[in-house]
Amino acid sequence: MRKIKACATALAAGALVSGSAFAGNSVEKPTFAKDVAPIMFENCAGCHSPGQIAPMSLLSYDEIRPWVKSIQKHVEAKTMPPWHSDDGYGPFSNDRSLTDDDRDTILKWAKLGAPLGNKADLPPTPDVPDNTEWNLGEPDHILTLKEITVPGNSPDQFHDVPVKTNFDEDRWVTAVEIKPGNSTVVHHVILWQGEQVGQGWLSAWAAGGFPDKFPEGTGRLLKKGATILADMHMHPSEVDATDVTRIGLHFADSLDDIEKELTNLWVMNTDFAIPAGDPNYQAESTHTFSQDSTILSVTPHLHYRGKDFKYTATFPDGTSQELLQVSNYDFNWQTQYWFEEPIKAPKGTRIDCVAHWDNSENNEFNPDPTKTVTFGPESYDEMMIGFVDYIVDEGVRPKMEEKTDPIQDKLPDLVAKHPGVVFKVLIPGQGLSAVVIPKTGTGGWHIAMGSRAVMAPITDIAWDGDNVTANLNIPGQGVQSISATLAGTSLKIDITDEKGKTNSITGMLAQ
Ligand code: HEC
Repeated sequence: MRKIKACATALAAGALVSGSAFAGNSVEKPTFAKDVAPIMFENCAGCHSPGQIAPMSLLSYDEIRPWVKSIQKHVEAKTMPPWHSDDGYGPFSNDRSLTDDDRDTILKWAKLGAPLGNKADLPPTPDVPDNTEWNLGEPDHILTLKEITVPGNSPDQFHDVPVKTNFDEDRWVTAVEIKPGNSTVVHHVILWQGEQVGQGWLSAWAAGGFPDKFPEGTGRLLKKGATILADMHMHPSEVDATDVTRIGLHFADSLDDIEKELTNLWVMNTDFAIPAGDPNYQAESTHTFSQDSTILSVTPHLHYRGKDFKYTATFPDGTSQELLQVSNYDFNWQTQYWFEEPIKAPKGTRIDCVAHWDNSENNEFNPDPTKTVTFGPESYDEMMIGFVDYIVDEGVRPKMEEKTDPIQDKLPDLVAKHPGVVFKVLIPGQGLSAVVIPKTGTGGWHIAMGSRAVMAPITDIAWDGDNVTANLNIPGQGVQSISATLAGTSLKIDITDEKGKTNSITGMLAQ
């Protein structure tokens, strides 16, 4: 079933097929065999089959019968199949929701007591997803992540797993297939290009998701030697499990094969502070296109306190269009919404995002309602990113904006001068910074101030094995003491101010 739906166009076709079988005539007296089985096999079996993320298999009348009440409830409430766009947006080519006719058929059937009907009408049992098979064909390159152990009935786990790619030239990635080793426990995987969560977005997979095949003629550029970071959420089952997830990368044959870079724009806000207990905190973010562009998809990204997310485009002629409203944001489903009809965004088009968070104790997913929360990479921090995948109408990729990241620009120099002692640190609300902490002499903490990099000197550095102490001299703010520990390529830094308050942050070795 997943195979048919492997790419955006095939997906659209799949949705049409499932809808058209009953279009316009929800049946008077539906039976399972004739009317309901085709809908459920097409729309539920991908997740509700053995070895997949859903808690029960729904592949036969016998398996489905005990769940009818619950199915009725979830189909009525539109909570199954999971799909989070409000009605009236899109159409999206990967829309997973049921057509109205299909919903009616299931609900009518449930009300009639869920009759089986004539067995002879039963469609064949559907093909269930094969976890060992690559749905997009053998990838050009496979990255294998480290093994993760997930004990039964334990708390959810979050892992950031880096893998080096080691290609000696840039490559165009045309498709990414993320293959959990154990689909009963891998809930979602986000792939970032870079060493920290929050750098270049490559792809995401969530339970029941499809491989990410970028639209024909487009690709994402994978920089030579790049590290890919897999940001993983493991959701334990009732039994002990282990997972080895693989990432299959498909490349264009040559750098010339791609007409358009699938550019990943971040319409983000990093400056918010959500007060402890606030049930409805709002933040906005905005971006104005500086070139004629075409929007292909949008992906809202908040963390556990995320409540809702809305995108609006305002065009140069003053008209506007709401692109997406997700009133029930759910961090567990990292959904990318692919427009069936791409949105033209001429130069000057503005994208506005509005998000709300629920940081109160009424939010059952809230990791800590007593904490004021700011931007940060950990899942107990928050983010507000309105991802927009777009292509430029002229040329392959957007012309470089004058604004670049001063720290990113500076890093190669710093690393050349101080090999092995430069660490990249993502500061919540402030972005990328670089810590240089040499074995001898003076170092510095380089921070972006607008388009410029500024530096706070690090003095009195004393390394002892993997531990180091030093003083951080922030201009105008006195001296803070640093105590840090190196673990592999990451440096855990504790910074204590003059009042004795300690903040911890982690840096990654820049190479
Ligand atoms: C994309 C994956 C996916 C698809 C498609 C899907 N489900 Fe589910 N379903 C889940 C998961 C995962 C759960 C467990 C609860 C959760 O995490 O939201 C679930 C839970 C349920 C439950 C609640 C079970 C309980 O414990 O009470 C019902 C009922 C259900 N699904 C019915 C359906 C039906 C009917 C369809 C098709 C029309 C469907 N689902 C399609 C993933 C899916």
